[in-house]
Amino acid sequence: MLLPRAMLDEDLHEVHAIEKAANRFPWSLKNFTDSLDSGHYAWVYCDSFDVVIGYAIIQLVMDEAHLLNLCVSPEMQGKGYGRRILEHVIDYSKTRSANLIVLEVRRSNQRAQNLYLQMGFNEMSIRRGYYPAEQGREDAILMGLDLSMLSLFNEL
Ligand SMILES: CC(C)(COP(=O)(O)OP(=O)(O)OC[C@H]1O[C@@H](n2cnc3c(N)ncnc32)[C@H](O)[C@@H]1OP(=O)(O)O)[C@@H](O)C(=O)NCCC(=O)NCCS
Repeated sequence: MLLPRAMLDEDLHEVHAIEKAANRFPWSLKNFTDSLDSGHYAWVYCDSFDVVIGYAIIQLVMDEAHLLNLCVSPEMQGKGYGRRILEHVIDYSKTRSANLIVLEVRRSNQRAQNLYLQMGFNEMSIRRGYYPAEQGREDAILMGLDLSMLSLFNEL
């Protein structure tokens, strides 16, 4: 079971613990509070005991949704939750009339890239040295999902 609900301030310690466990360069707690304060759309996805399995945060500007964070708790990865969270984000973005979802992903993060490619995202460009890395900086791949094309295909 995977139940989405709005991310609350009270969730942030649990969310940040997952963020630190799942990422080499995690968001700080302040990144999360700033994100909520800025009015970004943020969800936690919980089991039936309200334990957080994963979370997602998007920023909506006009008809474009920017996926800022997507994460599944390390012990729950590889069980299909990432895909279901992304499906929820895509469905929500459609209800808000977004035409495009964009995101940055580390060049080395093959697992996430596989997920995005499977869900129909395409590589749009490279942002050189976008992320901090153990040695120097790492490129981001900018990926996008064209929702207007998607609805066109669904109508065929
Ligand atoms: C990326 C992430 C969200 C994927 O979530 P997940 O629950 O593990 O993924 P799922 O089980 O739903 O798998 C979906 C697809 O992801 C890819 N994937 C999952 N595990 C993988 C692995 N070990 N190696 C390569 N690809 C993998 C596959 O394409 C998979 O589809 P398949 O099962 O049909 O092969 C999760 O690994 C995560 O939170 N990672 C740390 C944070 C992160 O990197 N976030 C993305 C930032 S851009």
